[in-house]
Amino acid sequence: MCGIFAYKGPQKNAAHIVINGLKKLEYRGYDSWGIAFKNRNNEIEIHKEIGKISEIDLDSLKDTENHLAIGHTRWATHGGVTRANAHPHSSEDKSIAVIHNGIIENYLEIKKDLQKKGHKFASETDTEIIVHLIEENMSLGFEKAFHKTLEKINGRFAIIAIYDKEDKIIAARKGSPLIVGLNDEKKEYFIASDIPAFLKYTNKVMYLDDNQMVIVNDELKFYDIQNFKSIEKRVIEIDWHEEMAEKGDHPHFMIKEIFEQKDTLSRAINQDEEKIKEVAQAIKSAYGTFLVGCGTAGKVCHAASYIFSQVAKKHVNFTFGSEFPSYHHFLTDRTLMIAVSQSGETADTLEAMEIAKEKGVKLVSIVNVETSTMARMSDIVLPVKAGPEKAVASTKATTSQLAILTLLAYACADKLQEGKQLLINTAAQINDMINPRYEEHIETLANKIKDVESMYVIGKSLNYPMALEAAIKLQEVSYIHAEGFAGGELKHGPIALISEGTPCIAIIANDETKNEILSNAMEIKARGGYIIGVSPDNNEIFDYWLKTPDAGDASPIVNIIPIQILAYKLAVLRKNNPDMPRNLAKSVTVK
Ligand code: M6R
Repeated sequence: MCGIFAYKGPQKNAAHIVINGLKKLEYRGYDSWGIAFKNRNNEIEIHKEIGKISEIDLDSLKDTENHLAIGHTRWATHGGVTRANAHPHSSEDKSIAVIHNGIIENYLEIKKDLQKKGHKFASETDTEIIVHLIEENMSLGFEKAFHKTLEKINGRFAIIAIYDKEDKIIAARKGSPLIVGLNDEKKEYFIASDIPAFLKYTNKVMYLDDNQMVIVNDELKFYDIQNFKSIEKRVIEIDWHEEMAEKGDHPHFMIKEIFEQKDTLSRAINQDEEKIKEVAQAIKSAYGTFLVGCGTAGKVCHAASYIFSQVAKKHVNFTFGSEFPSYHHFLTDRTLMIAVSQSGETADTLEAMEIAKEKGVKLVSIVNVETSTMARMSDIVLPVKAGPEKAVASTKATTSQLAILTLLAYACADKLQEGKQLLINTAAQINDMINPRYEEHIETLANKIKDVESMYVIGKSLNYPMALEAAIKLQEVSYIHAEGFAGGELKHGPIALISEGTPCIAIIANDETKNEILSNAMEIKARGGYIIGVSPDNNEIFDYWLKTPDAGDASPIVNIIPIQILAYKLAVLRKNNPDMPRNLAKSVTVK
């Protein structure tokens, strides 16, 4: 949530580099943006606006020769979407500028204290107290004043600050991601919340861990925040390339990423078999396994709990990251947690992992960003290998996570090779399924239903969580009111919502649940509902049929794909931006 980016180096257009980097981070927050740079006169200049950074005209930033700049693209937490609340925030004398991602929990008491000391605030944000605190302590010098500020604030944050009298950038991290990119020969340094922002310039990175800060001058110096002692960090070369984080010929990232599922599943299945067996053994011997994730990753965990039951006859718990703290009573050093996440930075899931770690729980993570905080916190990491996912709506990471969990369930049943073969076949079926004709067929449906107010999705067993996931996809990009239900639950209340023409998607796998969920669809049809069948076989009760392959235990993977495409098409027809839906952000790093 919120994207932050900083540049210091030999290039003369730091402000432009920062703006272009921020455009690549826009998926993290896009209600307003701002940059601060040191101009030729060594003064700090700030430009900030409401709206999307992608809409900026670079020519509006004239005379910006500079070697040092910082920038921010915001997802509002404290204070509305106004120019005043946009970052950077500056000290009253404009000598210091700060950007921040996260939440300062004790900002109100600090603000009151600073106000008593005469500080005047220009915004409603929690961030602004940081710059006033630094200013308050500047008699100690910039570095120490920054460090002293960190001692006073509570919460999760990533902060970057600059000072007009010194040619350096200082950054610190506790809870929110911050990565340093470097080209040491050129003395060129980047700091960002995510790697794609600087991938154009370097693939050499150094991760800031929690409670660490970095001072970027003509070299990098890292410190432990708790004692301000210098620490050594490792340079890691990552194997992402700039094109992987670009749209290519596609109009949006979302559709590009949906189509990438032709390849991503095969990559996901290609796991280190020894590691899969090790995790399967850990599940078998654990006194309780918790699958934990948020949003779509949470739905993946929910589906996996059915897959483990069906394939391995094994009960695994699932819970959303935000709900996990209530289960802490059950945790022991024989518990296992499997955290599922695309970004590896979701605050609620991270907090769940922290709670578990304290109780000695073994941590496994299934993450797409292999160098993320979750990955680094885990005892074992199973990489999702989907490549950068930039659209806010998760698609390719979702199906790959489902594939890995299906593989694990088969490994738990001592049938790893059978599971692998099933998934290899499923990957091939997906390759055939996703093609322009299929896309067109779904677009025709989208045109028919694009103006509806509400729609519903039903599923059963493995595909009940997929009905919930389908509803998330439809909600977040089409803004149509969508809800998912277990088919059998309809008659206990929700069926009252059905009226003439209400679209209802019925996810129907070719398994023992088929007849029951067909009956549920029939009950909806009898009340005027418009039935969209997602299934391997057509049926007379369907008003529209979205054919999916018969994938057995892998049916959740194939069934969600046509609904991802439908959500995308609806978003475009309704003139929404599917990559950056309103009110959302890709990486939810606040609780
Ligand atoms: O990065 P994560 O997978 O941990 O993110 C979890 C959720 O925030 C995420 O899945 C969210 O629900 C997506 N926007 C759904 O498409």
